Amino acid sequence: MFSGVGKSHDEIERAVQLGLKAINAESAGELERIDRAAQARGVRARVAVRVNPDIDAGTHPHISTGLHINKFGVPLEQAGALYRKMATQPGLEPVGIHVHLGSQIISTEPLQRGASAVVRLARELRDGGIQLDHIDIGGGLGISYDGSRAPTAAEYAAAVLPIVAASGLSIALEPGRYIVGAAAALVARVVDLKEAAGGHHFAVLDAGMTELMRPMLYGAFHRIVAVAPRAARDMCYDVVGPVCESTDAFGERRLNQLEVGDLLAILDTGAYGSAMSSNYNRRPLPAEVMVDGGKARVIRRRQTIEDQLAMETE
Ligand SMILES: Cc1ncc(COP(=O)(O)O)c(C=O)c1O
Repeated sequence: MFSGVGKSHDEIERAVQLGLKAINAESAGELERIDRAAQARGVRARVAVRVNPDIDAGTHPHISTGLHINKFGVPLEQAGALYRKMATQPGLEPVGIHVHLGSQIISTEPLQRGASAVVRLARELRDGGIQLDHIDIGGGLGISYDGSRAPTAAEYAAAVLPIVAASGLSIALEPGRYIVGAAAALVARVVDLKEAAGGHHFAVLDAGMTELMRPMLYGAFHRIVAVAPRAARDMCYDVVGPVCESTDAFGERRLNQLEVGDLLAILDTGAYGSAMSSNYNRRPLPAEVMVDGGKARVIRRRQTIEDQLAMETE
């Protein structure tokens, strides 16, 4: 499957060449570009239209993708016409319908509504003589970052499977965060402690928005715990990163009194942590360590300044 709201010419060429299970098309124009690329190679590209069903997934606005104001997909009511047009586009083979409502969705209800919307469309298409092969219900299942309840995979399956099974089509899904979110922690060292005016305490870490962007990008909450808690009184800290932006802050936390050199673990950073990291301020990407049972091994070494400069030319 290949999804993406802005597929470049080269990406479309490559996807057509690879003969993917489906290219999830985002617009009428993109379908035309895929058609041309496929005809030029003398093949038919398997495509699904990503529909935008205008469903509020109840998630943060910056990670909602299924509302009509979002840039994603084709309005549901326009999709039927696109599928009918495909009959005149020799480079296209319609095989599925795609929907992805957003990320960190912690109620199964919008996911059910999204699945129902695409199943309805598949039925209408079948009645009009267009038989598809699969329904792709995207990803989006959320996890608990703060200990509150979030749906389990079994609850998700119980909510959406009966809806999709009734269509008789096969089901594809694209969970990301649910699989990897809880699998990682960002371990950072306290490099400075200081008291600002008004008795505000800052704990400055050696990791910030360059290693974990989510809190700064959309106010995401991650639990922060001391790696080796000491018996000391609780204090309220503004836990911040080292980058030259005031937005470079993880938030206020109550922690046992810290000392410079302490290690803190920022939890549940497996999704959209490393993948969103950057070299801003020329900061090298951190090492990644796999902990497998009782064993730990480096699976990606720390980036060096030489690594970064190696890509530059005079
Ligand atoms: C099309 C599509 N499918 C699946 C995902 C994975 O989402 P999540 O990690 O919320 O399950 C994304 C995330 O951006 C996406 O854009």
